[in-house]
Amino acid sequence: MGYPRIIAHRCGGALAPENTLAGLRLAARLGCRGVEFDAMLAADGVPVLIHDETLERTTSGQGRVADMDSARLIRLDAGIRHHAAFAVEPVPTLDAALQLCAALGLWANVEIKPAVGHEAATGRVVARHAAAGGGRLVLSSFSETALRAAAAEAPQLPRALLVEVIPADWRERLAGLGAMALHCSARGLTAGVAAAVRAEGFPLACYTINRRDEAERLFAMGVSAVFSDRPDLWALEEM
Ligand code: G3P
Ligand code: MG
Repeated sequence: MGYPRIIAHRCGGALAPENTLAGLRLAARLGCRGVEFDAMLAADGVPVLIHDETLERTTSGQGRVADMDSARLIRLDAGIRHHAAFAVEPVPTLDAALQLCAALGLWANVEIKPAVGHEAATGRVVARHAAAGGGRLVLSSFSETALRAAAAEAPQLPRALLVEVIPADWRERLAGLGAMALHCSARGLTAGVAAAVRAEGFPLACYTINRRDEAERLFAMGVSAVFSDRPDLWALEEM
């Protein structure tokens, strides 16, 4: 499965509120073929799009995502802290996001983002919803526990291991998880490691790249894709 070169990080979070349907729409409008977003469980076990375990930074709510039912979460304002123009933008459910991706023809990287202590449940539930939603997608997570649970729930879905720095034993880890790709921070990525990953045929995607020259440097190293908060830098080009 080929990766889009430019993936709108958190749905393109510099241009629209992160992890929202407004972000997905804007990313598609700019010509993005791929988007990334973070999926976490609400208190009632429904997966919603949000990055932090707490609500304050990105929403009008307070407290922990894991303590609030999805019915309340989706009524919070996830747009107002970005800009008044996005007021009353809701916290989306994962189902709603996947449905919109399918309608817009967007490839999706669903990052499984468990609250601490909820790793296995989050992996299992996110995989179940992703499998039911259909569409072209890859699951990823920093949590290997979550990835294992996702594999057990929906083994047919492709999975990527997400790491800050690629570990020396990356081959064994990918094999153990049955993962087909590596996602890593661009910081600390060396040309040698990038070449080794690509030589073995694994897609390699790097976060978070908000300059074109940095993306070009990574592509020249063989990196397959970059996550960017600024997909407008490539607007209406072949992404
Ligand atoms: O999935 C790539 C990237 O989103 C990982 O970092 O913290 O933005 O979810 P974070
Ligand atoms: Mg993420």
